[in-house]
Amino acid sequence: MNTPSTILSAIPRRLHMQPNHPLTITRQLIESRFPGYETHNTLFPIVTTRQNFDSLGFPPDHVGRSRTDTYYLNKDTVLRTHTSAHQADTFRANESEGWLISSDVYRRDAVDRTHYPIFHQMEGARTWSRAAVEKSGKSLAKLIYEDTEKIPKHNIDVQDPDTPFHASRNPKQDPHSVEEVSAIAAHLKRSLEDVVVAIFAAAKTASTSPSISPDQPTPDDDEPLKMRWVEAYFPFTSPSWELEVFWQGDWLEILGCGIVQQAILNNASVPDRLGWAFGLGLERIAMLLYGIPDIRLFWSTDARFLTQFDATAPIKRFVPFSKYPACFKDVSFWVRSTPASSAAGGAGIPPPQVSSPASGTATTPADAAAAAAGTLTGHDFHENDVMEIAREVGGDLVEDVRLVDEFTHPKTGRRSMCYRINYRSLERTLTNEETNELHERLRCDLVDKLGVELR
Ligand code: PHE
Repeated sequence: MNTPSTILSAIPRRLHMQPNHPLTITRQLIESRFPGYETHNTLFPIVTTRQNFDSLGFPPDHVGRSRTDTYYLNKDTVLRTHTSAHQADTFRANESEGWLISSDVYRRDAVDRTHYPIFHQMEGARTWSRAAVEKSGKSLAKLIYEDTEKIPKHNIDVQDPDTPFHASRNPKQDPHSVEEVSAIAAHLKRSLEDVVVAIFAAAKTASTSPSISPDQPTPDDDEPLKMRWVEAYFPFTSPSWELEVFWQGDWLEILGCGIVQQAILNNASVPDRLGWAFGLGLERIAMLLYGIPDIRLFWSTDARFLTQFDATAPIKRFVPFSKYPACFKDVSFWVRSTPASSAAGGAGIPPPQVSSPASGTATTPADAAAAAAGTLTGHDFHENDVMEIAREVGGDLVEDVRLVDEFTHPKTGRRSMCYRINYRSLERTLTNEETNELHERLRCDLVDKLGVELR
């Protein structure tokens, strides 16, 4: 169990279901582009490692399974890290050809304006049944092309330099013919391009709406929408792609997708179906759509935030309430140099023994204490633990946490890190005493929970 109670207590919030919440409006806007698709929006977030990883073909040693990245409730149970955790079950239910799942997902991650340990994804899938096709007398590829023609056309510039699949980089699966892969890929790409076009059309009305204040940045104003497809890799699709949108001078990845691994459909007892799946982050799209500058705002219960969104009116850009001052504070501490296995340089020197201070490796009181408590210190240092402690102490008052300095002592081999914590409330000005007190608690928790030695 590595899941803090603050995370568990946020489970009932279900922001993507709150009336007039920007995530709800964004979800509904995307859902409206998939007429006839079944929607599932209340699936429970606690899932098995089988659902979240094994059913999708994640190898046993995949980093995504690590305790530093995923919230575990016990060794077989996690807070889902993506909506794909529900793919197999939804295919098994076999209720419709197309479905959409929107939900909260959970990841231990960085703390900054675009990362929050809870965020929201939408998963979508569309499959075709070979049996149904046989009855129609047409080829599956032909039928899929006919379905593709029903999706609205657009005249936006899309870069798609790669062939629908690539034998080594992005292979097609054996059970699928070249025509089938090409047809499914075309349907998938057209469906998702249509979503982006609809989002940007809505964002455009927002940025040109008269209510906007003149000093609001409206970067999308004169920039024509551009998007591009890039090859990607996911254990549960092949071939796979990401769709990127040109936004404020950069290519921004907005979704991952691909042709569903046939093994997933076979294991879900629907071996005669084949098709595509995608997963996108709702916050990222809502931030684009409304110009919301900080991901913490989605969790705000401040009326100055919530009253700006109305599901029944055209989209208006978010007008930030005045920005309160930030206050940053640094914390520096020692951790052990490198993981135990590589610290010895692989030269036959035994790894440090945390249980025996006499070995000379438990060089600090914290190490000794940790050794006595039977916990590891230095070698399991992971940045996400610092992130989580900062969140636990400061909650949404922590705007971001960044590593600003790092060095290894040439003699002792110990590693020193310095993190900068930026404290800022979205709703008020923090007092000095308040930030000092938070920072002091953070320092204590780093020692107590990670066994580091403050400098
Ligand atoms: N689950 C993937 C993610 O979270 C996205 C994805 C979904 C990719 C479905 C392919 C198909 O990054």
